[in-house]
Amino acid sequence: MSRLFQPLTQRGLTLPNRIAVSPMCQYSAHDGLANDWHLVHLGAYASGGAGLVISEATAVRADGRISPQDLGIWSDAHIAPLARITRFIRSQGAVAGIQLAHAGRKASCFRPWAGRSGEVPLAEGGWTTVAPSALRFADNYPLPSALSEAEIAALVQDFANAARRALAAGFEMAEVHAAHGYLLHQFLSPLSNRRDDQYGGSFENRIRFLLEAVQAVRAVWPDSLPLWVRISATDWAEGGWTLEDSVALAERLRGLGVDLIDVSSGGMLATATIPLGPGYQVGFAERLRHGAGIATGAVGLITAAAQAEDILAQGKADMVLLGRELLRNPYWALNAAAELGEPAQWPPQYLRAAPVGSVA
Ligand code: FNR
Repeated sequence: MSRLFQPLTQRGLTLPNRIAVSPMCQYSAHDGLANDWHLVHLGAYASGGAGLVISEATAVRADGRISPQDLGIWSDAHIAPLARITRFIRSQGAVAGIQLAHAGRKASCFRPWAGRSGEVPLAEGGWTTVAPSALRFADNYPLPSALSEAEIAALVQDFANAARRALAAGFEMAEVHAAHGYLLHQFLSPLSNRRDDQYGGSFENRIRFLLEAVQAVRAVWPDSLPLWVRISATDWAEGGWTLEDSVALAERLRGLGVDLIDVSSGGMLATATIPLGPGYQVGFAERLRHGAGIATGAVGLITAAAQAEDILAQGKADMVLLGRELLRNPYWALNAAAELGEPAQWPPQYLRAAPVGSVA
């Protein structure tokens, strides 16, 4: 049997295969509420054979949205429209995951196709952003206000409340977003964290907020369900967060009951140079898997079935996450199964399109 189509059991949850939909912002919500677009978008991956469908970065607080059109989960009103989506995902034999996020100093920005970039002015629906320190991400981004310790404590609670709502909405995997230069990553990196209290300075202090958020989420997330954390394994920048920091952090997260590190990179500096190429972040997933003894997810320019299979077969990661390739082809997983000679669960409605011998 191929590794790609081997189920993965974490705690009491079994993912039917090793293919996950990487979280991807759709910038298509009003007031953070999921709608028909999100149902069709995420639903297609579930009927397309992905084992795990992870929602886009979903804001734990309204001011944590990257754009005013991001999904949110900061109130109970967000639960029902998300529950409609998780019900459909489950009906297709897939598992629904959610990425819990706060954008920090990268919040309150225009969505990519707005025709303008950077900060949404207050008069046009933008808001005051928050961060570890009052430092802009880039010139056209908002100037954030530095969070007080009391505000950090409230945010830890916001992550826990969001997790409780996610559970009520039917999600079975929660991922804390601590990558890509968003709030939790802003605390990790010396480039954005210039605090001199217990949340800044030493490695121990910079990881404190993330550890507290993870502990708070783990406390409300059932023991029977997995919790993941997405990190940027490196800032790709002098003086920034490093791969060695990531290994040390992953060990700590493992100790707090995190089940998998979803290993991405970058997002801290707009000016960083990233050597893009097929599977360019897979080595980081491999390093964390062996260095910290924790399951990892590999992501970034994974596009071919054989490539994904190799990553798993060589023990570099336990899951593969795909982003843009799935946007191009939501049925990637069904085709990958046929390529690897594995039977797949084609939706009965689509059976007439299935290659001979590839139906489970
Ligand atoms: C992303 N990415 C992303 N990452 C994340 O952690 N949360 C998010 O909400 C988003 N949003 C998002 C939107 C869109 C349109 C794209 C293309 C990407 C990053 C994504 O999850 C993934 O890590 C990268 O795209 C690299 O993987 P691929 O696309 O090379 O498979």
